[in-house]
Amino acid sequence: DWTAESFVETTVAQLKAKIGDDKVVLGLSGGVDSSVAAMLIHQAIGKNLYCIFVDNGVLRKDEFSGVLESYKTLGLNVKGVDTKDQFYAALAGLTDPEAKRKAIGKTFIDVFDHEAHLIEGVSWLGQGTIYPDVIESVSVKGPSATIKSHHNVGGLPDFMKLKVVEPLNTLFKDEVRLVGRTLGLPEAILGRHPFPGPGLAIRILGDVTAEKVAILQQVDALFIDGLKREGLYDKVWQAGAMLLPVQSVGVMGDERTYERVVALRAVTSVDGMTADWAHLPYEFLADISNEIINRVKGVNRVVYDISSKPPATIEWE
Ligand code: XMP
Repeated sequence: DWTAESFVETTVAQLKAKIGDDKVVLGLSGGVDSSVAAMLIHQAIGKNLYCIFVDNGVLRKDEFSGVLESYKTLGLNVKGVDTKDQFYAALAGLTDPEAKRKAIGKTFIDVFDHEAHLIEGVSWLGQGTIYPDVIESVSVKGPSATIKSHHNVGGLPDFMKLKVVEPLNTLFKDEVRLVGRTLGLPEAILGRHPFPGPGLAIRILGDVTAEKVAILQQVDALFIDGLKREGLYDKVWQAGAMLLPVQSVGVMGDERTYERVVALRAVTSVDGMTADWAHLPYEFLADISNEIINRVKGVNRVVYDISSKPPATIEWE
């Protein structure tokens, strides 16, 4: 019978035998998969695992500092690199969703390649690829998958010539969570909603600027914190906010306003392939709408997305 404990035991032994005294570089995303992969490899080889956590400027509010801190607490050898400006420069003026995804993927590879070169004598690339990624390798998602998609294109960045170690590539998501729990990963990381690799960039419709990111981060944080406070976070599969490229008229005191619109999205799902909009309580929606409009400067209207997938997708871009 499969148990997380026996999986950890066997896998750590295999990793030790395979990697020996070599060095491994791994990109942490803050998500479950890369975090669990890192913890496993760390158990096997300790400080010879070099983790890199990139601030791409489109993470959630306080995500970079918060997650970096928990990685350090877990004893991981992790380097946080703030490359926000490099990403904003690459995104400047882009409005097409796929162009934005490509710009982020390419910038991530540039940053990672640069960072990997700073580690002397590294010979392995660790990745948090899980079994569904292996079967579904056509659908190109997330930083690690973005890397994979470049595999066949030629002109590989140097780090891609490394040998690859993917300790989770036989596991499903729920098994990954069990393994993570066994390894002592905090629930805050294990229980988090999926978050797209291109982050808030694909939730800001139209071009991405630091100012728009700051607005959306505040809205997203109020929404997510509200869901947690009301015990709703674990009842939905994924939630977030979209910053729309429209302004609408509002009234504040006796002033007319002309400000931004945000759309809240929360869905129930099993695997993200199909999804239903979450039937959140009206009271909650009413409170969160007021809170957002009162507290986030520049937003005067909140709408709730009631589309299911299909025909809509979860993200708007
Ligand atoms: P959609 O919008 O296609 O999303 O219904 C399904 C799931 O995939 C996530 N998603 C992405 N994840 N890179 C990622 O790593 C991407 O480019 C991307 N696009 C969508 C989305 O957040 C949802 O969980």
